Amino acid sequence: MDGNGRWAVQRGQPRVSGHLAGARTARALVRTAQERGVEVLTLYAFSADNWRRPRREVAALMRLFRRYLLSETEQCVANGVRLTILGRRDRLAPELVHAIEGAEAATRQGTSLHVRVAVDYSGRDAILRAAAVATPADLTRDAFGALLARIDHDTAEALPVDLLIRTGGERRLSDFLLWECAYAELAFVPVMWPDFDAAHFDAALEDYARRQRRFGGVGDEPPAHALSG
Ligand code: IPE
Ligand code: MG
Repeated sequence: MDGNGRWAVQRGQPRVSGHLAGARTARALVRTAQERGVEVLTLYAFSADNWRRPRREVAALMRLFRRYLLSETEQCVANGVRLTILGRRDRLAPELVHAIEGAEAATRQGTSLHVRVAVDYSGRDAILRAAAVATPADLTRDAFGALLARIDHDTAEALPVDLLIRTGGERRLSDFLLWECAYAELAFVPVMWPDFDAAHFDAALEDYARRQRRFGGVGDEPPAHALSG
């Protein structure tokens, strides 16, 4: 979800109003993704390196995350959406951790769409923390992928990324799900996140559907993770 700050500055508004607009975009995209039959939607909200931002912006983002969790939970439960937060929790304020745990517990039964929001997330740090506790049994692609998901409080299963959409005009991964993106198809959409709408999402899905995913092979072969060990 990149481009909130620039979107606001272009309009002569403070960066924080871009984040508010970005939260509305996220809410709308959750609905769209569910309508389109997406199973897992991961939103990169705050990276471990975003702590370097001005204290006021960080504080505003943290307040926004908590408000988002508190305000969205009911709707998620009603729509069968499961909400989980991916990332470290030991550097988050206790009130935010409390809201995260509440939202996760309330939406645990959701089976329609799994929405994951990455907060204080770093792909490299996740790999390092998983490596530090891995047993020999964890050292297959599937098992290590599952360990990565667990280490960030998320799920019990490995979740490889099929399609990564980056807004805001940059063409980089910025430490996002590095392991899980091994075979991700990449889409770079040059609009600021608050302007990203259902039409952009549909265009990315249509483009994705046209791609031939070979996972290193030449055609109809099992995906790479089936070859682990
Ligand atoms: C939102 O966009 C992503 C967050 C870290 C919350 P940015 O805040 O990175 O916006 P730009 O890239 O400065 O425009
Ligand atoms: Mg940015």
